[in-house]
Amino acid sequence: MSRIAYVDGQYVPHRLAGVRIEDRGYQFGDGVYEVLAVCGAHLVDEALHLARLARSLAELRIAAPMSEAALKLVVREVIRRNGVVDGIVYVQVTRGVAPREHAFPRTAEPVLVVTARRKRTTDPRFGTQGVAVITIPDIRWQRCDIKSVALIANVLGKQRAREAGAFEAWQVDRDGFVTEGTSTNAWVVTNDGTVVTRQADHAILNGVTRRAVIDIIGAEGCRLVERPFSVAEAKAAREAFLTSTTLDLLPVVRIDDDVISNGEPGLLTLRLRERYLAHAAAK
Ligand SMILES: Cc1ncc(COP(=O)(O)O)c(C=O)c1O
Repeated sequence: MSRIAYVDGQYVPHRLAGVRIEDRGYQFGDGVYEVLAVCGAHLVDEALHLARLARSLAELRIAAPMSEAALKLVVREVIRRNGVVDGIVYVQVTRGVAPREHAFPRTAEPVLVVTARRKRTTDPRFGTQGVAVITIPDIRWQRCDIKSVALIANVLGKQRAREAGAFEAWQVDRDGFVTEGTSTNAWVVTNDGTVVTRQADHAILNGVTRRAVIDIIGAEGCRLVERPFSVAEAKAAREAFLTSTTLDLLPVVRIDDDVISNGEPGLLTLRLRERYLAHAAAK
């Protein structure tokens, strides 16, 4: 089955799909996006993703390209046309096409792109054996709560991780506190069993997976504190993990050159991972 993309009102073959060269997303990174998981043919936490999309658009004063009801139909149609049962949907909205000028154009209409693809299999060992992260300075702008397509700092960070033989890079603010990964939220479990993740301020994206895991932690009767944690605290933690829509919840077993605990995924981490996978699979 060949892939189909939705681009600005039309369903087109994915390999032929393109945007106009003066699309402001292309020239300025002037747009926002969402990535939703499809699990057993249903969308995981769709309402939270659509609410975050609406918030990102409002923060950047980009008009919604269509009603939420219409967007839901387009997303489902793209899933259907691509035969996706387990995979992801990518939704992007840019401010539109206009002669290149920094200030908002008067007339541009927002451009919506929706694509879908079948699940890429992440190495199953990541879930059972854990992954390594490095720490890097957080060089991003001060509104990381907005899911902007301008991801160059995240791209550079992920590349640094790859070149260091690590899976992810945890970004560190000027005060030495971990903000988040380049495409994931960051978590630790302290020695008294408290789960810690940074509060959802402007320094991080409030991950949909993060929110689901916070609910799971509550349901499990575990203690959670949303606060900044330092690199030193993370390295001394009992457990560490990361979360995102595409990766679910993965144990972190090494930070830079330091092994977390005994180098094995933590027991609480594995329990939360199991619960999260069940949450994603449930209708
Ligand atoms: C910078 C950043 N933080 C966190 C996340 C995790 O967010 P979510 O759980 O909504 O996928 C992402 C996902 O793309 C991200 O790009």
